[in-house]
Amino acid sequence: MFRRPRRNRKSAAIRAMVEETTLSVNDFIYPVFLIEGSGKREEIVSMPGIYRYTLDSLMDEIQECVDLGIKGFCVFPSLGDDKKDKYATEGHNPESLYNTALKQIKTKFPNIALMTDIAMDPYSSDGHDGIVENGEILNDETLDILGKMALAQAKAGADILGPSDMMDGRVGYIRDILDKAGYTHVSIMSYTAKYASAFYGPFRDALDSAPKFGDKKTYQMNPANKNEALVEADLDISEGADMIMVKPALAYLDIIKLLKDNYNVPITAYNVSGEYAMLKAASEKGWLDGEKVMMESLLSIKRAGADIILTYFAKEAAQILAQK
Ligand code: PBG
Repeated sequence: MFRRPRRNRKSAAIRAMVEETTLSVNDFIYPVFLIEGSGKREEIVSMPGIYRYTLDSLMDEIQECVDLGIKGFCVFPSLGDDKKDKYATEGHNPESLYNTALKQIKTKFPNIALMTDIAMDPYSSDGHDGIVENGEILNDETLDILGKMALAQAKAGADILGPSDMMDGRVGYIRDILDKAGYTHVSIMSYTAKYASAFYGPFRDALDSAPKFGDKKTYQMNPANKNEALVEADLDISEGADMIMVKPALAYLDIIKLLKDNYNVPITAYNVSGEYAMLKAASEKGWLDGEKVMMESLLSIKRAGADIILTYFAKEAAQILAQK
């Protein structure tokens, strides 16, 4: 045999030399959950190792992550039913738990990239991402609320806004509002190809944000479709998205590659709650080596073409990368 590919695998030194994909702590955005109160953290049952934090304990958690080199954080609020209504009013209250937390986090950690979530569901008594009327999700009426949320978050000091709602036209609508108010420097990372996935289950437990009726199939994408991801990406980029996202990640690696091959903006993949829960459950049972499958999964997302990975594994993976 003249060609023997195994020669390039014969030692750790040579394997390292020819390695095509490398994970870095710079790739990660860590999603974190915020609750009211102080001095508390509550573990999410279906996401071992992930907690809902009160603002003070969240600050400590962010500090630990910053010390590990993590630069991106995405905050999600978990609210009691008393803070929810049909129009998600609390979502654009400048004095809300969420918006005051953003302000304080950014003040304490001016150098991090602070990302937000824009969608009605954490604040909606219907548990949907848009306004519900007679069982339908209204698109254009919802844009007005999303725009107000975006502006409140920009004013609070957010660096990157993440519209996760999948309403049509929201990226352009939000961009326009931000620009007119002088927030031209605030970025938009659009949830571009967000699928109607069962892998969001543990996240909805964490936020108590499951839809009160029906599902999200009239706005989130059909898992069977991929051309549609190109349609969504064309729109989001033409409306001004700075970065686009595929969500979930592991069951949608082909979509990550599709967008990476077709667009020149950074591609983000959201390694979602259910993907985290699966690996944690199997490793708790001793059926998989948790650390190895975590690193292999993150590597596969990067290899598929993701430039940025939103992942609940960020802290654990950063600890491992720091030892290398
Ligand atoms: C809602 C939102 C969801 C997630 C992020 N933003 C859930 C949903 O669409 O129902 C899911 C994240 C995860 O599962 O980790 N706007």
